[in-house]
Amino acid sequence: MATPDTTLTVLGIETSCDETAAAVVDGRKRILSNRILSQIDDHAPYGGIVPEIAARAHVAHLDRLVESALEEAGLELGDVDAIAATAGPGLIGGVMVGVVTAKTLALAAGKPFIAVNHLEGHALSARLVADVDFPFLLLLISGGHCQLLAVEGVGRYTRLGTTIDDAVGEAFDKGAKLLGLGYPGGPAIERLAGAGNAERFKLPRPLTGTDTADFSFSGLKTALARAAETRRRPDGSFAEADRADLAAGLQAAIVDCLADRTKNAMRQFRDAHSDLDAPALVVAGGVAANRAIADRLARLTAEAGFALEVPPAWLCTDNAAMIAWAGLERFRLGLTDNFATPARARWPLDATSPPAYGGGRKGAKA
Ligand code: KG4
Ligand code: ZN
Repeated sequence: MATPDTTLTVLGIETSCDETAAAVVDGRKRILSNRILSQIDDHAPYGGIVPEIAARAHVAHLDRLVESALEEAGLELGDVDAIAATAGPGLIGGVMVGVVTAKTLALAAGKPFIAVNHLEGHALSARLVADVDFPFLLLLISGGHCQLLAVEGVGRYTRLGTTIDDAVGEAFDKGAKLLGLGYPGGPAIERLAGAGNAERFKLPRPLTGTDTADFSFSGLKTALARAAETRRRPDGSFAEADRADLAAGLQAAIVDCLADRTKNAMRQFRDAHSDLDAPALVVAGGVAANRAIADRLARLTAEAGFALEVPPAWLCTDNAAMIAWAGLERFRLGLTDNFATPARARWPLDATSPPAYGGGRKGAKA
């Protein structure tokens, strides 16, 4: 294999959901800058992401963020080797802002443009901070995505499982909303669950015990709503102990579902790659920040002889460093894109997989 060129630098842009971000990384895996502006406060009053508000916020802030990312990296636009942007999947208004900005910069500076699939950004992020070789198994769990993929190489994915309705982050977020907690719900549920009794409310574990690696969370949400109604006080609030027990029950059910589905995917991955000694399970996406999930996956992988790789939380949630890095990995292989490349709301990593109906996509939250 040729030695990778370590002198490359790539500017990355991320605008597919509610974070506006710009970053510069280089071929030595150095993150020269990683600017990110969260819109959480803009969307909080609505209990979810409002696409129109997101797109407008990206327009308002992206130029300044790109400028400051370059400045922090100590580079001029003309110094970078390529400009990468998330070109999907995501909320289309936001994706368009990032793609048009990146194309304009690329044209002005005479640099190649790279259209990055946001999911590939998550998929390759672990390789930016750790030595993870292809192929590996990826569990992608966020507010918009919930998938298990065999990552064979850059641009080469086989989907082993996906959600047939909600993404796992949505299960946390909708559960939190139901319990009167703020957005995003995952961290709030995790905090409360720590003080709760997970056994008190018996919630279902959809699809567990079946031999696929697909996910389903909408029945869990309905069951939580039903259980919550039995404890809701006349003024709409909950006793703190009830709320903690409901949160603990929800989190325990989600952990069980993720573990059961991942176990099946590990078996499928092993069948396809029987030559590998200790393949990696990489976990990416905002939900990977959850300790209960990480602890269960640590046990599961230890039992199955997999190495667990969970990138740090700042790299698991949406950011532009992972987009710059995916762009750099593509650029090294000569994979650049022309200016006719569109922004896409939907863009599966594994084009041969049948479409998944329901959620499992960005924007399902709004
Ligand atoms: O990857 P991300 O930042 O954005 C999307 O692509 O959606 O993920 C955000 C999601 C939200 O649903 C949020 O509730 C969830 O990640 N999340 C968590 C935790 N921290 C963030 N879920 C469970 N436990 C957490 N500690
Ligand atoms: Zn994401």
